[in-house]
Amino acid sequence: MATYRIHHSPRLSGEVNVSTAKNATLPILAAGLLTEEPLIVKDVPRITDVEVMLQILEDCGAEVIRSGSDVSIRAVNPQSPGNETPIRKLRASVLVLGPILARSGSACVSLPGGCAIGQRPIDLHVMGLQAMGANVHAHGGQRQLSGKLTGARVYLDLPSVGATENLMMAATLATGQTILENAAKEPEIVDLAECLTAMGASITGAGTGTITITGADSLHGASFKPIPDRVEAGTLLCAAAITQGSVLIRRARPEHMRAVIFKLMEAGVGIRETPAGIRVSGTAISPFQARTLAYPGFPTDMQAPMMVVGLKCHGQSMISETVFENRFMHASELARLGSVIRVENHIAMIEGGYPLCGTTVRSTDLRAGAALMLAGLISEGETILQDPSGHIARGYQDLPQKLRSIGATVEEM
Ligand code: UD1
Repeated sequence: MATYRIHHSPRLSGEVNVSTAKNATLPILAAGLLTEEPLIVKDVPRITDVEVMLQILEDCGAEVIRSGSDVSIRAVNPQSPGNETPIRKLRASVLVLGPILARSGSACVSLPGGCAIGQRPIDLHVMGLQAMGANVHAHGGQRQLSGKLTGARVYLDLPSVGATENLMMAATLATGQTILENAAKEPEIVDLAECLTAMGASITGAGTGTITITGADSLHGASFKPIPDRVEAGTLLCAAAITQGSVLIRRARPEHMRAVIFKLMEAGVGIRETPAGIRVSGTAISPFQARTLAYPGFPTDMQAPMMVVGLKCHGQSMISETVFENRFMHASELARLGSVIRVENHIAMIEGGYPLCGTTVRSTDLRAGAALMLAGLISEGETILQDPSGHIARGYQDLPQKLRSIGATVEEM
C-alpha cells in the first residue's frame, strides 16, 4: 500500500516536465502485436500500468526488451494471454484482442479490470470485430473470437476510445477497407494512427469522427515516440492554479488541452502558451460550470482535479459527469478535508472558499488519487493520503517528485 504525506503548500513555482502519455503508450505497445518485426516505443513512462501491459504482452508470446526508457516489442507468433491476473488489473488489456485476432485468426480475453468508475463493458469492441467477420462465443467472463477479418463499415454507438483503438488496429490487417463511424477523436487516437502508419498501415481521418483503414497483408517494425500526457499536464496546471503558483509545464501541448485551458481561464487562472509548454500563473477565483464529454469536450480524466480547483473558487461551481456513471467517489473523501460538495446523480455542486483541514483520506481510483494529492496542497496542516491499490503510480510517473520540484512537500511514507 502506498501512503503519501502532503503538507499545506506555498505558491508553487518553477518548471516541471510532463512525461509521455499513459493513454497513448498503452495502445501503442499493444500495436507491437501487429507485426513480427520489432516495434520500438520511445520514452515510455515509468508507471505500473505500463509494467502490467508489458507482462500481458509477454504472456501473449511477445519478446519485450527494455533499453533505458525505450521498449522493444517483438511478436513473431502472438497468442491469447493465459494469465488473468494482469488482465484484471488493466482496462487497456482488452486492446490485445484486435491485434491478436487480426494476426492469428483467433483470440480469447477475459473481461478487463482497471478503475471501478463505471460498468465499462467491451460490447462495442466485440460488436465491431463481429461486423468485420469475427465469430464470437462468450464463456462466462471470457470472450472467444475467431475468423478472418474483412473490412466493414462500423458505427460505434458511443465514441469509445478503446473500441476505436482496437478496431483501428484490427482493421490494419483485415482484407479491404474498414470505415469507423462515430469514432473517438482523442489525440491518443491520432497518435496511434501515426504509429500504425509508421508501421506501414493506411489510415485516413484519425482525429475526426470517420476513420478509414485499408488493410494490408502485413505491417513492419518502426520506432515511435508517443505524445506527452495531457492529463498529467492538466493535473499540474490545476496544482499551480490552486496554490496561486507560477509554473511552466514543459512539453504540455496546448492544442490537446483546449477544454481544460479555457475552463481554467474561466475560473480566472492566467495561462500563457509558450514554445516550451504552458505557463500558468495566478489563482482560481471565479466559479465555473464544466461537463465531461468525449474529446474535444472537457475530459472525464480531468474531472477530479478540476473539482479541487472548484474548492478554491468563491461561490458555487458545477461539474456534470456524462462519460462514466460512478466517477464522483473522490467527493466523499474531499468532504473529510472539510469541503462542501453535493452530488446528485451525475452532477456535483461544489461550494468553494471553505477552509480545508488535513486528515487521512483514501484514493478510490487513479484520477481521484491525484485530485486528493492536490487537495492536500490546499489543506491546513498535514494530509495523509492512503493509496492501497497504488492507483497514483499506475498512471503518473513520479507525481510526488514533480510536485516537490516546484516547491510542494509531498513524500511517500
Ligand atoms: C479511455 C482512457 C480513460 C478515459 C476514457 C474516456 C485509456 C487507456 N483509458 O478509457 O483514461 O477516462 O478513455 O476518455 O485510454 N463503453 C461502452 N461499451 C464499450 C466501450 C465503452 O459502453 O464497449 C462506454 C464506457 O462504459 C464509458 C464510455 O463508453 O461510459 C467511454 O469509454 P471509453 O472511451 O471506451 O473509455 P476507455 O477506452 O475504457
